[in-house]
Amino acid sequence: MSAVLEPGDVWAYLVGRGVVPDGSTGTVREVGDGNMNRVFVAVPDAGGPGGGGRSVAVKQAPPWIRALGPSAPMSPERAMVEVRALATFARFAPEQTPAVLDVDPERFAFTMEDLSDLTVLRTALVGGAGFGDTSRQVGDLVGRVTFATSVAGASAADRATLLAASVNPVLAAVTERYLLSEPLTVHENNSHHRLVDAEVAALRADAAVRTEVSVLRAAFGSRAEALVHGDLHSGSVMVGERDGAAVVRVIDPEFAVVGPIGLDLGLYLANALVAAARSAALGDAAAAADRAGQAGVLWAAFTDAWRAGWPGRVDRFLDDGWLTRHLASVWDDTLGFAAVEMVRRVAGYSHAADLETLPDPGPASAVVLRAARTLLLDRAAFRDATGAPDPAAVAALVV
Ligand SMILES: Nc1ncnc2c1ncn2[C@@H]1O[C@H](COP(=O)(O)OP(=O)(O)OP(=O)(O)O)[C@@H](O)[C@H]1O
Ligand SMILES: [Mg+2]
Repeated sequence: MSAVLEPGDVWAYLVGRGVVPDGSTGTVREVGDGNMNRVFVAVPDAGGPGGGGRSVAVKQAPPWIRALGPSAPMSPERAMVEVRALATFARFAPEQTPAVLDVDPERFAFTMEDLSDLTVLRTALVGGAGFGDTSRQVGDLVGRVTFATSVAGASAADRATLLAASVNPVLAAVTERYLLSEPLTVHENNSHHRLVDAEVAALRADAAVRTEVSVLRAAFGSRAEALVHGDLHSGSVMVGERDGAAVVRVIDPEFAVVGPIGLDLGLYLANALVAAARSAALGDAAAAADRAGQAGVLWAAFTDAWRAGWPGRVDRFLDDGWLTRHLASVWDDTLGFAAVEMVRRVAGYSHAADLETLPDPGPASAVVLRAARTLLLDRAAFRDATGAPDPAAVAALVV
């Protein structure tokens, strides 16, 4: 068995790890279609030792980028970053976090709950499904995890430990490149629909845009607010139903860092707005309104979790005025990070299936790009008369 697992190795590997019984047999298939890593699902054969036992998923980071192969080396340590983040997520948001059953630091692999009865949120949305309870659960997860790891929810000593355990320079550099610079410049990795050619060029030439993205980039590099997932788009959420109840799992936190909270909310929001633009382009106004309305659901669940934690804050000096100001600042960041994610999905390296699978991605791409520009340059338009965050104004951008 080489260090990098193949489907034929996985069952023996699981026996060796003690995850499944000695002498048992099972069927393994590769399910991962991601860029970075390999994911296998292993299902026990009926009968024999372990027969009828539960199926599991094994995720391994090879020492390269999966889609590019050994010519594109990347530290496999990212699997351990993911394991550590999943442990923190499980502590504060157990309901939405996949259960980890085994961790193998030598092979940069871990075994987790099999989620193959669920669907990736982006796939579900492209297929026409609604959000259901998903944004509430994601907002709740982000709220709980970020409160618990912020200056309000954790002691300075605990935060120092968290910071030390959460350094993630390799994937932070990926974010700085593919989200927070390249899409805003002319680069061979980028592509866009010809319909938005002039708008993409104008955005890249706009000094005010450059300054706003610089502010976000500096925030990402320097503002250690709380533990964030770092890649919380609709491809990192799996959804479905178990026993008649909505089930949501947030997967793949290999980009996790202690950083600005608005990054996670912004990535999720951007992809809800992209999904809304798709529905609008398909002429489904009701679905478009529902998707755009996730801004409000996400924000309410996030702030509810912070307000629920607030009376028990560890730093008693922090007052209600700080909380109001802090949440408003997270809102501004949310809009900014949403904007850069929208630019990336239209004009960067990694486009969104929501747009690419439209008969003509052009018009919806233009809607998303214009919305991104407004989010970047006119944050004040997304506060109400009292200065409070106004998610309804965000929804109005794309429908
Ligand atoms: N626990 C699981 N059970 C079943 N399927 C899973 C599980 N975890 C991940 N998958 C499947 O594997 C795919 C890739 O997983 P994941 O996003 O974690 O990998 P990745 O290689 O890090 O992806 P990316 O390149 O997008 O970062 C998911 O989209 C999902 O379809
Ligand atoms: Mg990943």
